[in-house]
Amino acid sequence: GIDSSKLLAKTGYVTLDTGFVNTGSCQSAITYIDGDAGILRYRGYPIEQLAQNSTFLETSYLLIYGELPTTEQLTAFDSSIRHHTLLHEDMKRFFDGFPRDAHPMPVLASAVNALSTFYQDNLNPTDPAGVDLTTIRLMAKLPTIAAYAYKKSIGQPFLYPDNSLGTVENFLRMTFGFPAEPYEVNETARAALDLLLILHADHEQNCSTSTVRTVGSAQANMFASIAAGINALSGPSHGGANQAVLEMLENIHRSSDDVDGFVKRVKNREEGVRLMGFGHRVYKNYDPRAALVKKMADDVLTKLGVSDPLLDIAMELEQHALSDDYFIERKLYPNVDFYTGLIYKALGFPNRMFTVLFALGRLPGWIAQWREMMQDPAFKISRPRQIYTGPGERDYVGVGNR
Ligand code: ACO
Repeated sequence: GIDSSKLLAKTGYVTLDTGFVNTGSCQSAITYIDGDAGILRYRGYPIEQLAQNSTFLETSYLLIYGELPTTEQLTAFDSSIRHHTLLHEDMKRFFDGFPRDAHPMPVLASAVNALSTFYQDNLNPTDPAGVDLTTIRLMAKLPTIAAYAYKKSIGQPFLYPDNSLGTVENFLRMTFGFPAEPYEVNETARAALDLLLILHADHEQNCSTSTVRTVGSAQANMFASIAAGINALSGPSHGGANQAVLEMLENIHRSSDDVDGFVKRVKNREEGVRLMGFGHRVYKNYDPRAALVKKMADDVLTKLGVSDPLLDIAMELEQHALSDDYFIERKLYPNVDFYTGLIYKALGFPNRMFTVLFALGRLPGWIAQWREMMQDPAFKISRPRQIYTGPGERDYVGVGNR
């Protein structure tokens, strides 16, 4: 019942909470996390049940609109997404402007930002019809952009979306297929990717999501807000960790470093070496998503006939860390990124696409959080305060006298 802005104006008190470790920025009905117990629920549904029974499309609907859809609602959602998968032809030229070896994350963020210029009549955040249309456009076009960014990076021609296919099949086809050649979607690959997208779909006020909210709080449009979220996600402390984990495993495999040696370097804080894919701001217990991914990693690799020595290194690293006092004392457990890269790799994705896949998964969460904020009657522009530590007042000195 306390209006903190009035309190601040009256008293001048400012709470300093660097990194917002203990500061809530909003009220939200979307995702519940109990970091000590290792619990994650979307709209009340345990992540384990959604992973077992739902699809990425259905989970996206749940996050964005608040309830599981009826058959009619799901069909309508699916067909409107299929209807909007094409990119404007002029958008294709954007991809030619990037260097051939451009990382696909900044390409993705730039293209999402650019989308707003094609849909300028529907950008008003207070227009519900425009917000609904932007929701569908983003859900439909992000996989197409991601596939184009990949094709460009390997010098292959783009494939137009095939709207007889669902989101995940379509994305796999646009990524791995060739124009005018039939592409048969591997069901193991489709199901694995679908499940991974569900596990990434929302995670309350993480760095990229709070970025989306902060940018949106200035009434910036949804494309602009989500482009900002994609940039936040690209950092190795956040979504970029999935690429960093695989590079870490490859380095251990390539070098003479064994697992023991690597863990020692982490504990000695050598050149800031961290055990990537371990630790989380909220989970002080096993990340429930990591538990699900670990369970599926072995199964998916076996079904795809892939034998990867990096999986053995990952399991050895995990076992080693979980019985080591350094990690036990700090409550460091594997997070969602620890095993995902091994599955993405087995599906045929290069390391640099891993964080793009995270972005595809997180999209419905970003959209849901942006929409919830805009509908919140307590909505306010984000504007944190600071504790000033610079010099006190002093007089200007002309350049010749400094
Ligand atoms: N390896 C080694 N030590 C670690 C690790 C790690 N992965 N993570 C945390 N620590 C140590 C810190 O050095 C610190 O030790 P200290 O108290 O002795 O100084 C302690 O554990 C607490 O860590 P903080 O950095 O203060 O924790 P914070 O909540 O700020 O950071 C983060 C969380 C960024 C996820 C961190 O654990 C990390 O860098 N992990 C590796 C990167 C990673 O996997 N990121 C993905 C996060 S999940 C996601 O975005 C999907």
